[in-house]
Amino acid sequence: MAGGVAAAVAAVSEARLWQRLMEMAEIGGFIGDGGHHGVNRPCLTPLDREARRLLISWARRAGAAVSVDPAANLFLRLEGEDPSLAPVLTGSHMDTQPQGGRFDGIYGVLAGLEAIEAIAAAGVRPRRAIEVVAWTNEEGGRFAPGCTGSMSFTGFKPMSAFDDLVDRDGIRYADALAEQLAAEADLPRRPLGYTPHAYLEAHIEQGPRLEAEGKEIGVVTGIQGSRWFTVSVEGRTDHAGTTPLRLRRDSVQDMLRAIGALNTLMHDPADVLRFTVGSIRVEPGTSNSVARKAEFTIDFRHPDKEVLLARGDAIAGVVQASMTSCTATVEERFRALPVEFGERVPGVVAAAAEAQGLTSLRLPSGAFHDAQFLVPLCPTGMLFIPCRGGVSHHPSEYAGPDACAKGARVLAEALLALANG
Ligand code: GLV
Ligand code: MN
Ligand code: MN
Ligand code: MN
Repeated sequence: MAGGVAAAVAAVSEARLWQRLMEMAEIGGFIGDGGHHGVNRPCLTPLDREARRLLISWARRAGAAVSVDPAANLFLRLEGEDPSLAPVLTGSHMDTQPQGGRFDGIYGVLAGLEAIEAIAAAGVRPRRAIEVVAWTNEEGGRFAPGCTGSMSFTGFKPMSAFDDLVDRDGIRYADALAEQLAAEADLPRRPLGYTPHAYLEAHIEQGPRLEAEGKEIGVVTGIQGSRWFTVSVEGRTDHAGTTPLRLRRDSVQDMLRAIGALNTLMHDPADVLRFTVGSIRVEPGTSNSVARKAEFTIDFRHPDKEVLLARGDAIAGVVQASMTSCTATVEERFRALPVEFGERVPGVVAAAAEAQGLTSLRLPSGAFHDAQFLVPLCPTGMLFIPCRGGVSHHPSEYAGPDACAKGARVLAEALLALANG
């Protein structure tokens, strides 16, 4: 390790990173299943803003320059020797699932801050600037789909494509975004998007492999593809006590037929395919009314593009064929094809882990991440740290202080290698 790199890595503080993770977990924190400390921090809310304020206060103390773009992506910049060069970008997200944990997303942001703080404290000046980003709405828990901040930044979709998304209270994304930007009007504003020199995101694995195989660092090779659909089944509401079954147009019954048929379509003996109906809404939603409308979501993922396209394209036909008395509409809300990271950034991560004497494993990501939208723009990669039992999107999600610090040290070294390249 070159002297500056060793000093920067040594300056990563396990205690500071852990204390910040725990302090952030208080913002939206709740005690959930099994007494575990979960976090519910939806994007573009007062809680989100409180967390961002805290992050900003830490970043400024660390000497980083803070700015925000029109998609409310928040940037913390450690200046490089040559400010005219494209920066290296790192980061993740601060929003959570409603039953989220203390590490998903926020770990990558705080590990990024820890890395630049350590680099600055060691008196190391990278050739290129390093920017830490907190992407807006990665989870899609409030406004579906997720990754709207990174999709806007990269031009994967125009920002306006998300204006009319609505949350469960009928609030439009464009209005929530405007409110956030107004509340942060004191922050320097930057234009939307640029081409980074490289992008590297740190994250908990959210799966069981690293822990099971006893490895300290995951070198992520790529991300499987995902497609999100919303299916609406329209029937007619009627009296539950008086209406004969043959006269009904019961949206719940046709929905159940559709879900059953979709399970058959998505059956995969190899258990590689992921098919989830995670949300169902029924109207009017009373015990003694036949449901007029039933709406459900589909989250479908596969690492093979052909399977993702063929099975996903078959969904609408299967739903239509399942209708007996109702009508159905199938809307695709989100599509991200599988991505491969290639060798540039994963190679840097693997080399940094090795230089630090840490064990590593190459593995793909089953979860989606903002990183996948950076792939067309610049060399991209991710590093994973193990999490207990592979559990995530649950209050019991856990990665220990030691694992968090190891990831931040590898991140610091890899970011320096990229920023000096
Ligand atoms: C993101 O959290 C995902 O669902 O993969
Ligand atoms: Mn995440
Ligand atoms: Mn998540
Ligand atoms: Mn995610």
